[in-house]
Amino acid sequence: MALVTTTEMFKKAYDGGYAVGAFNVNNMEIVQGITEAAGELNSPVILQVSKGARKYANHTYLVKLVEAAVEENPDIPMALHLDHGDSFETCKSCIDGGFTSVMIDCSSMPFEDNVRITKQVVDYAHDHGVVVEAELGTLAGVEDEVSVEHGSESYTHPDEVEEFVTRTGCDSLAIAIGTSHGAYKFKASQCTRNEEGILVPPPLRFDVLEECIKRIPGFPIVLHGSSSVPQEFVKIVNQYGGNMPDAIGIPEAELRHAAELAVCKINIDSDIRLAMTATIRQYMAEHPDHFDPRQYLKPARQAVKDMVAHKLQNVLGSAGKA
Ligand code: G3H
Ligand code: 13P
Ligand code: ZN
Repeated sequence: MALVTTTEMFKKAYDGGYAVGAFNVNNMEIVQGITEAAGELNSPVILQVSKGARKYANHTYLVKLVEAAVEENPDIPMALHLDHGDSFETCKSCIDGGFTSVMIDCSSMPFEDNVRITKQVVDYAHDHGVVVEAELGTLAGVEDEVSVEHGSESYTHPDEVEEFVTRTGCDSLAIAIGTSHGAYKFKASQCTRNEEGILVPPPLRFDVLEECIKRIPGFPIVLHGSSSVPQEFVKIVNQYGGNMPDAIGIPEAELRHAAELAVCKINIDSDIRLAMTATIRQYMAEHPDHFDPRQYLKPARQAVKDMVAHKLQNVLGSAGKA
């Protein structure tokens, strides 16, 4: 199977009450870890590339790595998606360069500008057989060069979604219901603490999600900023020389619930970073004499694979749905 768009994936996910994982890729080990897990669990998967990833690894290298993963896993539906495209030009270069899906993120702009630029991308993308994700509402956290302070984020207004989707013709919509980018999703002041002193976050705004679903029934919704920041990784990072106090993510049970509703795509990047960093920190501390990168990248790749396998099976519910 060649790379596919997300159209069929999302239809099946919507009807089946699960979500497709969209994992950020930046190098070969990450692509392999994700796609080996999807291959073994017979799960559809979205590999997404940010502007920063293109800057780091080069567009062509990333496309070729993903093409290799498709060749190695011929039975798995895979989409190659641009994450947080910031302009028509960036989206166009990915549409022309082999991507099957792009996101145009004008969510920090006024509504009318968001509509205008999204529509421009949709027209070009649809002419080329590519699908488009757009965004309404802003998440806290850092995405590429855009940083939104906690407190300055804004939930999606359900009143706007129907008009936005109709006027732009976009194929899926990212909304803001309290998730945020990065490994520090909530300030300590927004949380309580459990007996072990670990932060317990406030719940996501499922009321906003449900209002949005009512306005655009049957339409695929996307959640960004959906890493769970597993505390076992945070603990290893901190134990082996790291310093990530109060790193906190979205509880898996909430993501599972969102996946059962209209959320068809769930974005995960920080958990990949954490899995690799925790594994490499521990490996380096335990093997101070090793210097062959393959020695520490091999367990790091395995950690990505194990973490992704867990998400596909227990959080997204996409295992067995290829
Ligand atoms: O939403 C942001 C993603 O985690 C990508 O992050 O821009 O550092 O590659 P990045
Ligand atoms: P996390 O930082 O929660 O992994 O979110 C990633 C994301 O939304 C990529 O677009
Ligand atoms: Zn994002």
